[in-house]
Amino acid sequence: MTAPAQGASDGVPDGLVHVHSGKVRELYRSADGRLVMVASDRMSAFDHILETPIPDKGRILTALSAWWFEQLAEVPNHLIALDDPLLPAAWRGRATVCRALDMVPVEAVARGYLAGSGVLDYRASGSVCGVPLPAGLADGARLPEPIFTPATKAAVGEHDENVTFDEVAAAVGERTAAELRDLTLRIYRRAAVIAADRGLLLADTKFEFGRDPASGELTLGDEVLTPDSSRFWPADDWRPGRPQPSFDKQYVRDWLLSPASGWDRASDAPPPPLPDDVVAATRDRYVEAYERLTGRRFADWSA
Ligand SMILES: Nc1ncnc2c1ncn2[C@@H]1O[C@H](COP(=O)(O)OP(=O)(O)OP(=O)(O)O)[C@@H](O)[C@H]1O
Ligand SMILES: [Mg+2]
Repeated sequence: MTAPAQGASDGVPDGLVHVHSGKVRELYRSADGRLVMVASDRMSAFDHILETPIPDKGRILTALSAWWFEQLAEVPNHLIALDDPLLPAAWRGRATVCRALDMVPVEAVARGYLAGSGVLDYRASGSVCGVPLPAGLADGARLPEPIFTPATKAAVGEHDENVTFDEVAAAVGERTAAELRDLTLRIYRRAAVIAADRGLLLADTKFEFGRDPASGELTLGDEVLTPDSSRFWPADDWRPGRPQPSFDKQYVRDWLLSPASGWDRASDAPPPPLPDDVVAATRDRYVEAYERLTGRRFADWSA
């Protein structure tokens, strides 16, 4: 278990024990064995946790995940409740009470379009995670059909690594690997249809699954289909052959790599603080993703 991030143990109610600090979320365990997952406003990019938070980001991720769990009601998920009244006011809108799962240590990624590490993998090998693809696909191209491109889950500060289906099978067993792949692709297809109805392309997304310790059932955990875990592209602006405008953290990555930031990614130095306008523009993108997908106003969430 990692040490609590700053503030992780401040104002924690009696009966909750801090068990883990992730890049974005703090995890607590209650006496009855449930988990409380609290999404912070921290932002990670290039495997660094940025020192500048994005106001409300944790609440947006929590709201959007909860909405998706509702839309995907046919898939077992870990959500028990939002905003238990016993939780501190500061956690309002950002806490999820959930079933503690035995997590499968695989990032279950589905891709319907070529982007990010998929482009690099494809250019180097003609395939992504060992899945062969037709020649001549451009950055942003739609794939002939959605593919399962798993990654191993890295520790904080290290890169997640793309792996093949066979490597997943070797790590977690053939049966679990096949189940992960089939469920991942099924949820991706369903979510892509929902996003398309709202004028958004779901380019790719990452899920984390675990087994319910009582039933053994493969269950959707963590967050789902948020701008942190997914690439959403406005369908109207989709032009393969270049990076696509998007509602994910690409905007922050682009700024960090621009001369304006003065940061050298190859150096050991941590990224610099984000200027106010970059913070505001990033927050706007997260809010817009939530509002376009759900048709709800973010201001109404746990207000
Ligand atoms: N229902 C659940 N039961 C147990 N663990 C869960 C559950 N849902 C999510 N998790 C875990 O909680 C953590 C969420 O924290 P966060 O997303 O900030 O972490 P991360 O940086 O992606 O990864 P890590 O925690 O490995 O550093 C992840 O480790 C995730 O696997
Ligand atoms: Mg995570």
